[in-house]
Amino acid sequence: MLFETVVSGGCRSYLVGCEETCAAALIDPELSQVDRYVALAARDGLRIKYLVDTHTHADHFSATQQLAKRFNVPVVMHVASPAPFVDLRLQSGELLVVGKLRLQAMHTPGHTGDSMCLTLEDRVFTGDTLLIGATGRTDLPTGDASALYDSLFNNVLKLDPATKVFPAHEYKGRTHTTIGQELAENPRLQQRDRGAFIEMMQNLNLTMPTHITEALRTNMTGGKTIAQMLAEAAAIVPFMSLAELKACIESERCDFLVLDVRERDAFNEGHIRGAQHLPRGQLELRVNQELPDPTRRILVYCEFGRVSTLATATLRQMGFKGAVALDGGMKAWREAGYPVTVE
Ligand SMILES: [Fe+2]
Repeated sequence: MLFETVVSGGCRSYLVGCEETCAAALIDPELSQVDRYVALAARDGLRIKYLVDTHTHADHFSATQQLAKRFNVPVVMHVASPAPFVDLRLQSGELLVVGKLRLQAMHTPGHTGDSMCLTLEDRVFTGDTLLIGATGRTDLPTGDASALYDSLFNNVLKLDPATKVFPAHEYKGRTHTTIGQELAENPRLQQRDRGAFIEMMQNLNLTMPTHITEALRTNMTGGKTIAQMLAEAAAIVPFMSLAELKACIESERCDFLVLDVRERDAFNEGHIRGAQHLPRGQLELRVNQELPDPTRRILVYCEFGRVSTLATATLRQMGFKGAVALDGGMKAWREAGYPVTVE
C-alpha cells in the first residue's frame, strides 16, 4: 500500500494507493492543498479514483468537489450527507474498491449526522469521530453526543486494539495512534457511562471554529468560498501598483480613467484626484451611461483592493479589455501618505 499523509494546519488528509494497479483514494482533502495532492499522485504514479469526505466539515474547506472536476472522478460521502454534489453515497458496511485495496465504510454519527469511518487493512480513518486523545465535538449542526457514544463504544472502539487510528485532525504533530492506546489513554474515553459521557460532551464549552458559516455553506452546497471568488477574478485581471498610479497622476499624463467603486459616503470622505464614482453595486446597470467607451483604459479601485478586483473582472467580462485593478486600495493609499481629495 502506498500511503501519504498531508498536513494542512490542524487538518490531515490521506492518500492511499494500490501499488499493483496504481489506483488511489484521497480522504478529506483540503482546498489549500489541491496542487500538493495532484503533485503527490503524479510523483507516485497514482491515479486518484475516489475523493472521500468522512463528514461535512465545519472548520475547513473541502477540496473534493474541485478535485472531482479536475480528475473526473466521484465524490464519496455517507448516505446521510446533505451535499448535492456527492456522486457516491455509502452505507455502513459498503466497500470502495481501490485496485486491490478495500476501504469499508462504517457510519459513526455523533460529531455530525453524516460522519463515517473507513477501515483499510491494519488501519482506520476516523474523521472527527475519534481524534488522538480526544473526540470530535458534538455541539455543531447535526452533532449528537448520545450518537457519538454509540459510534465510539459500540463500533469504532470494538475494532482490533492494534488497529492504527488516522484522524482528520491532529494539533500536536503525532502521526497516528491505535485503538488500544486510545482506550487506555484518551481522557474522554475514560467516561464509559453514557450519561456521564453526554454530560461531559455537552459541557466542553468550545469556541466556534473560524469560518464555520462559510465552511458549512460551501461544503454542504458545493458553492465557492470568498477566496475562490477573488482568486478567479484576480486570475483574469491585470493590476497596477499604488506608486505607479501616483506617478501617472503627478505626471499629468494620466491617459486612463480612474474609477472609484466604493459607496457614496466613502467617496465623499476622500478619493483619488479626478476619480469618477460608480459604486460596485450599480456597475452592471449603469455601465452604459457611465462608461460609453469600451476601449478606454480604466483603473479601478476600492477601499481594500478586493471589491475592485471583482469589479475589474466584471468589466473585462463586459468587454472593457482595458480595465485594470489597483493592487491595494484607498486604505493603503492613505497609509502611504498619497494625496486625497474631497472635491
Ligand atoms: Fe469535523
